[in-house]
Amino acid sequence: MRVLNIGSLNIDYVYEMPHFVQPGETLSSLRLQINCGGKGLNQSIAAAMAGLEVYHAGCIGGEGSFLVEKLAQSGVHTDYIRQVEDQTGHAIIQVDPSGQNNIILYSGANHALTEETVDAVLAQFCRGDIVLLQNETSCISYAVDRARALGLRVALNAAPSGENLKQVPLEKLEWLLVNEVEGAYLAGAQEPEEILRRLEQQYPDTTIVLTLGGAGSMAARDGETVHVPAMTVRAVDTTAAGDTFTGYFLRQAAEGGSLESCLRLATAASALAVTRPGAADSIPSYEEVQAFLQK
Ligand code: RIB
Repeated sequence: MRVLNIGSLNIDYVYEMPHFVQPGETLSSLRLQINCGGKGLNQSIAAAMAGLEVYHAGCIGGEGSFLVEKLAQSGVHTDYIRQVEDQTGHAIIQVDPSGQNNIILYSGANHALTEETVDAVLAQFCRGDIVLLQNETSCISYAVDRARALGLRVALNAAPSGENLKQVPLEKLEWLLVNEVEGAYLAGAQEPEEILRRLEQQYPDTTIVLTLGGAGSMAARDGETVHVPAMTVRAVDTTAAGDTFTGYFLRQAAEGGSLESCLRLATAASALAVTRPGAADSIPSYEEVQAFLQK
């Protein structure tokens, strides 16, 4: 079983700030780091570090080749990444002293992905393989439709939230992963239990996973609902915590693990990720996650 992640690749400009910039304020940052990122790239690395065989498909501009090198070093297959006549996607990330972040995205080459490319890449995979998607590239709806028609299993991390999500055939997903903001948007509810209940009702054939930051995570499938609390750690940088969660969740889910075991593994991995700075660089290895879970 292989995982094809049709996903974004970003250059992350990470500014360490004394506090988030306020409207009208000019504020010097304490430090700038330029990192590999993008929800797609981070999730490919997390899934590969968790032990899955991962192929990344996506687009970069000429200045993004170090992102491909990072994926390759992390054990991800990179043959389906195309260089296009556009700027590589990037993110401007502020990190405050508590480790919280906020992010400005520039899609750039991530939106140069075409239906032809999606078709060509999907043709290399077969029934039982998994397609992973996030909401940072073009052609999401098309990829879900085509992947399902080919008998592939589809996971969508519906991040970041956006109007286009309402057009995506979410009922065709095997796994839908959202945080509180994305969940509230899709379900039209605020309370986690209600978000989960409504999404479960709307998409009865889909495993719904809702991450809740410090309040842990929940999942629902076939009438079963599970809640796993967060693990207490000292947060340095929460960037890519959700991506780490997704990659590790998928590993356990792909093996047919129980909802609880999927959430537990993903929770431990993302807890470790927030103790480290950066996006892709903060993702722990499977051995580290196992050792952490034993404690
Ligand atoms: O989830 C974190 C990621 O979101 C960052 O790496 C940034 O590139 C944005 O896509």
